[in-house]
Amino acid sequence: MSVLKNKIAALVVISASMVGFCSQAFAEDYQKLLNMCIACHGVDGSNEFDSIPNLKGQNVQYMVGQLKNFKADKRQDQTMSKVAKLLTQEQMQAMAVYFNTGKEQD
Ligand code: HEC
Repeated sequence: MSVLKNKIAALVVISASMVGFCSQAFAEDYQKLLNMCIACHGVDGSNEFDSIPNLKGQNVQYMVGQLKNFKADKRQDQTMSKVAKLLTQEQMQAMAVYFNTGKEQD
């Protein structure tokens, strides 16, 4: 019985550390990718470039939808089509939430 308990305990530790590892990898990739978005769209999603849309406060579902469209080539843009192909659905969602809340928004 105690052997089984130890095995279960070991499994719990292993799976917990795997979850930790995955979310750390997610956080690192996410931050790198987000820095790229920010370079064009602005740190809070608002920017002064005429050709780059403001994302600050934009609807989350809309943004995720557009990113999926870029990824699936249903919407084409020289940059965004390439950028969106790097993103997982999880990252799209997290980025959309980031720009929707707009870090510097009050
Ligand atoms: C090199 C500059 C550049 C980078 C980097 C960039 N974007 Fe864009 N983004 C654009 C431009 C330009 C458009 C408008 C494309 C068009 O006219 O269809 C756009 C469009 C969008 C749209 C659609 C907005 C709308 O109103 O329909 C979303 C959402 C978006 N970008 C999110 C992101 C995210 C998230 C990232 C980072 C993973 C990112 N962008 C990286 C330049 C960039």
